[in-house]
Amino acid sequence: MKEQIIDIITKASELDRDLVAGLLEIPPKADMGDYAFPCFQLAKTLRKAPPLIAADIAEKIGDVDILEKLETKGAYINFFIKKDMFVKSMLETADVDNFGSSDIGKGKTICIDYSSPNVAKNFHVGHLRTTIIGNSLYKIYTKLGYKVERINHLGDWGTQFGKLIVAYKKWGNKEDVERDGVAELMRLYVKFHEEADKDDALNDEARHWFSEMEQGNEEALSIWQWFVDISLKEYKGTYSLLGMDFDHFMGESFYRDKTADVVERLNKAGLLKESEGAKIVDLDEYNMAPCLIMKKDGSTIYATRDLAAVLYRKERWNFEKCLYVTGQEQKLHFAQVFKVIELLGNGWAKDSLVHIPYGLVSLEGAKLSTRSGNIIYAEDILKEAIAKVKDIIAEKNPDLKDKDEVAKIVGVGAILFNDLYNQRIKDVSFKWDKVLNFDGETGPYVQYTYCRCASILRNTSYDENTQIECSQILDEPAITLLKEINRFPQVVKDAAEKYEPSVVARFSMDVAQSFSRFYNADKVLVEDEQLRNARLKLVSMTKRTLKDSLALLGIDCPEQM
Ligand code: ARG
Repeated sequence: MKEQIIDIITKASELDRDLVAGLLEIPPKADMGDYAFPCFQLAKTLRKAPPLIAADIAEKIGDVDILEKLETKGAYINFFIKKDMFVKSMLETADVDNFGSSDIGKGKTICIDYSSPNVAKNFHVGHLRTTIIGNSLYKIYTKLGYKVERINHLGDWGTQFGKLIVAYKKWGNKEDVERDGVAELMRLYVKFHEEADKDDALNDEARHWFSEMEQGNEEALSIWQWFVDISLKEYKGTYSLLGMDFDHFMGESFYRDKTADVVERLNKAGLLKESEGAKIVDLDEYNMAPCLIMKKDGSTIYATRDLAAVLYRKERWNFEKCLYVTGQEQKLHFAQVFKVIELLGNGWAKDSLVHIPYGLVSLEGAKLSTRSGNIIYAEDILKEAIAKVKDIIAEKNPDLKDKDEVAKIVGVGAILFNDLYNQRIKDVSFKWDKVLNFDGETGPYVQYTYCRCASILRNTSYDENTQIECSQILDEPAITLLKEINRFPQVVKDAAEKYEPSVVARFSMDVAQSFSRFYNADKVLVEDEQLRNARLKLVSMTKRTLKDSLALLGIDCPEQM
């Protein structure tokens, strides 16, 4: 229908079709028509007042058979499409397998670098956000036909491991590390800093051990590898609770034999400068602090390994884009890395390398069980959510089948939805009664709406393939719901374009709310078979859309809850 309206306007106005397509809007309220064409922007080129332009075009359009009426209001032309035709076309578009998918990404690869916790440190709530956002972007791009490489750029290399080795040798033992895992490694790390404050020689020892690591000392590397394995095992527990996975665990250590090449390339390009014994790339011209490449002692840093990683990934996957999901505090770091890559003669860097920052998580009024002090483990929050949902089920629906599985889907879903519902750059405040409120704007509410649809369909003999009489779906709540569902493909594209899963989360909420309105206004299981089938069709389409949109957020739907 939209295409037809665009054609009609293009023909009447003799404007460029793409221009018309770009301007055409879906009005916020049904009484403003099904589509609206604003004429403000045309005033300059056509040298006429916008309302006059609108009236002119409307007159030229005249009578068209798909239109019930045409209205000009100020600078707008509002199009009211004949309802049965509109419904028919919306059903034809949306009632298909894979609705929302597209192949615009066919043959193209997107790398997403996300989650990436730091080995020997806890997987905290900040890493939970990058994990959730990155995973959702993966689903969204996959839906659009892209090949996505999910990369976990673990923080598994750097001077901190020299410190850990020293601390372990002095104050640690095998049993404690085996038993307490990351918590013990963190204790050792803190202990190192306390002691090093009193005795600077410890820092020299740590530097020594890191340089042993860089030179391939077997003892150093085997302790380091053990720390990595222990940490990874814990992180994988969190990923499995979330139902998420990666294509590559390629941490910083993966690039340790690739940084020399970066340094050489920078040198050849004349980009390296000495500064107080260190090597840097001066970025003054671009209003940025210099990018540190190599320290005085010859060791490389985070940025050097990121430079190597960009070049490696471009070479291996020839990505269309490489996205980095981290907190805002790394904004400068990525700006520097991207600029240096560009200065190496890679024009593609400008459009292809994208930092995707997100806001902070504050744990307002949330009582969280933590293993030590105020360090919040992501896994603890997830487990607590699941436990709380179990309590709710025990109270409200004790006979539910697969209680544990449902509690997991709903508990984890609640956390994910809460994280993705607002624009990613906004800070997330976390309150249990808000996150788990079944009537609020929450994951459980959308899942519950899904279950209602499932239950209606379960309790009736409804055949998916019944031919629907479109004239049965003519009342406002039903049409509004159908229109809402029809937005799905555009929603997926918008979300990808803005790197913004919240667009999908909001959409799932809009569909759930439109469904409630429809369900309250229209009885579904009526006597009249044609009417019943038409309404059941809407229920079934709603069900599918809710499931598919939540899936893009990494959230599952239970059939009952
Ligand atoms: N390990 C880092 C951190 O926890 C995030 C790494 C992000 N990715 C990258 N290529 N630098 O802050």
